[in-house]
Amino acid sequence: MKNEIKKIHVTLSEAEYDIYIGKNILSDIDKYFDVNNSNPERKILLITDDNIPSEYLDKIKAKLNNFYLFVVKNGEENKNFDNYQQVLKTLVENNFTRTDCLIAIGGGMVGDLSGIVASTFMRGIDLYNIPTTLLSQVDSSIGGKTAIDFMHVKNIVGSFFQPKGVLIDVETLKSLPDRQIKNGLVESIKMAATFDKNFFEYLNTKPDILENAEEIIYKSLLLKKDVVEKDEKEKNIRKVLNFGHTIGHAIEETMNLKLLHGECVGIGMLYFSSPEVKSAIKEILEKYGLPTSCDFNKDKVVELIKHDKKASGDTVATIHVNKIGTYDIIKMTLPEIAELLK
Ligand SMILES: NC(=O)c1ccc[n+]([C@@H]2O[C@H](COP(=O)([O-])OP(=O)(O)OC[C@H]3O[C@@H](n4cnc5c(N)ncnc54)[C@H](O)[C@@H]3O)[C@@H](O)[C@H]2O)c1
Repeated sequence: MKNEIKKIHVTLSEAEYDIYIGKNILSDIDKYFDVNNSNPERKILLITDDNIPSEYLDKIKAKLNNFYLFVVKNGEENKNFDNYQQVLKTLVENNFTRTDCLIAIGGGMVGDLSGIVASTFMRGIDLYNIPTTLLSQVDSSIGGKTAIDFMHVKNIVGSFFQPKGVLIDVETLKSLPDRQIKNGLVESIKMAATFDKNFFEYLNTKPDILENAEEIIYKSLLLKKDVVEKDEKEKNIRKVLNFGHTIGHAIEETMNLKLLHGECVGIGMLYFSSPEVKSAIKEILEKYGLPTSCDFNKDKVVELIKHDKKASGDTVATIHVNKIGTYDIIKMTLPEIAELLK
């Protein structure tokens, strides 16, 4: 069967880039990314985590010339200042210059860390992204958000910085645990619930995720592309991507890593939905075996929302869905949010 490659072109004010989605395309990295930039000696730093199967790295390395490797420990707690400095140190010690480049291979943790390094090293160095989790493929591969966590606050230090290119090889999902697959799928459900009723209905048919990964990733990215092209820096419509996140993030923190990000976002969406939408989202989450409730400390959650990056003054911009495929942005006070949680 012909291996059809899907391509999405992202156009932003200061950068444009292509996202390629296909099967077994890691070994063709040299076809999709001009990593040598006509200079066979161009230095490349590969950044990955210690849990990414080495076969992916081997396929990529086989096509590169002058590369170095930085392996960070896996896990969100490693998206930190120390590792940010360690990557910078590797670049400085190996005399990287602004004309060299980085390649991130991993989930959103590796992508975010690599992104902040790329955006700040010598005021910007080329970054190529190879996301390997469903969450990073449907979500963090587009939009240019980079970040590290600091003083126990998630993504508190970061920037907007666009990659030079993104390569999504859906075969990498085969080694990803099922729970992580479902975790990523929640972001697609979220985008469908807010922007695309047909896509929501399609996901509700419970297609086999691995078999239909290219389609699901492509559809999710087209929705997010439309949003980030209209609002690069999250001043208006991009806020809609936070549907379920205001409470979801806070639940995630209070659950001490017992639940994954997507699982918390799934639960979070239920609080900001009309009864009809709530039952539709609950149904789809249940179909995939995703949690629809958890025993979280409501006072603590409200306290955490106070420090949410989307909070301004006494209000927080929250996203509500009254009908699948539509959304409202509503400013809510903390007491109003506390009331919703009852
Ligand atoms: N920049 C953005 O727009 C954006 C959007 C959403 C999330 N994020 C960030 O992304 C991070 C979460 O990303 P994530 O869910 O990908 O988590 P992650 O990067 O921590 O990966 C989850 C786990 O899966 C492992 N893994 C990755 N790919 C694998 C593969 N193909 N096979 C087997 N194991 C694999 C990792 O080693 C890790 O243990 C958070 O830090 C979040 O803040 C960023």
